[in-house]
Amino acid sequence: MKLKKVITADNSPTLYVPELDEHYHSVNGAIQESMHVFINAGFKQTEKNTINILEVGFGTGLNALLTLTENETQKKDIYYEAIEKFPLDIEIINQLEFKGFNYNVFLQIHKPEWEKETYLNKYFVLKKLKTDLIDYEPNKKFDLIYFDAFAPDKQPELWTENIFEKLYKSTNTDGIFVTYSAKGIVKQALRNVGYKVQRLDGPKGKRHMVRAIKR
Ligand SMILES: C[S@@+](CC[C@H](N)C(=O)[O-])C[C@H]1O[C@@H](n2cnc3c(N)ncnc32)[C@H](O)[C@@H]1O
Repeated sequence: MKLKKVITADNSPTLYVPELDEHYHSVNGAIQESMHVFINAGFKQTEKNTINILEVGFGTGLNALLTLTENETQKKDIYYEAIEKFPLDIEIINQLEFKGFNYNVFLQIHKPEWEKETYLNKYFVLKKLKTDLIDYEPNKKFDLIYFDAFAPDKQPELWTENIFEKLYKSTNTDGIFVTYSAKGIVKQALRNVGYKVQRLDGPKGKRHMVRAIKR
């Protein structure tokens, strides 16, 4: 995939994929979107002190960076598993700087080998898996899922009941699934597999987002 760096409205970078005519984040602000959807509506809503997080679509590592940073206050014990079909080349990663966040920590997130558990600090274990979501077989249960694939109209094969059922089975009771898309077919597919679906206010530039809970 050919990628182009773009600066978004809050001055944070994202990547544009010409092949899909799709950005990795909202052009209204990459950091503001990730904070709103994944940290504020997701991570900050978890109650347990020891949690397993799954990220679908690791990409630039921004969600891991924001979670690690927020956890400096929360101090939860986190196991963070992230899957990615198309890991970014180091040349691209080196072009990304999320100002206001520790750049060394950002590089630390990208350094560990794939498929290996690595402690980034005493609270945070990262395991990145180079795999296609379609083939992925979770071997853990998660308390929080960041579903950050490309949009349903670009990758309809990833927003299906089959995929959501696999994730639902791997969600702990009271576990939270968050995503930026509030499309009707996404909400319906999540409901059909058993999640309780909530429509929340979206980040800047988007009316809604979704939080789904396993009761
Ligand atoms: C919207 S971007 C978000 C990336 C990331 N969360 C970030 O903050 O940079 C979607 C990500 O999903 C990845 N992806 C696309 N298809 C995938 C698949 N079938 N399995 C796993 N990851 C996939 C893309 O390569 C990309 O990194």
